[in-house]
Amino acid sequence: MSPLTEGQETGVREIDAGNEGLQYLLQRLFAPLVECRRVAGPCDFRACTKIQAIIRYTGRNFAGQEAVMTDADYPNGNDHQRHHASLLDGLKQMQAECVCAERDSASVRAFIARWTTDHLQRCDRPFGRWAVTRRVLPPVA
Ligand SMILES: [Fe+2]
Repeated sequence: MSPLTEGQETGVREIDAGNEGLQYLLQRLFAPLVECRRVAGPCDFRACTKIQAIIRYTGRNFAGQEAVMTDADYPNGNDHQRHHASLLDGLKQMQAECVCAERDSASVRAFIARWTTDHLQRCDRPFGRWAVTRRVLPPVA
């Protein structure tokens, strides 16, 4: 496992890879001197492109995880899916409120970190334990 997510493994390959990818993306997006991809002219702080990149990545990632849960007939899949949606809703709300991931990077990062910690404990680890116990997914190599 990558040092990015060491100690956060769930035992489900798709989830662990997705979480590692999110941490990698966040490191890149919030690295010093990494600027927004603005369309043209000065930013009006509507639909922050850095937040949009996080929404795009996590949306794809969540869809993959949810397909794994569906295929495995995971009984708590709906709750897990609702919690995924809460991150996307929160990020979209930030965009609607003209939050800028550069100007307000601390609050954006704090929101994602809080959600990620909560999600790992509340959703990803229980799914990992369930999947390993029931042997419904191939073991992580
Ligand atoms: Fe999840």
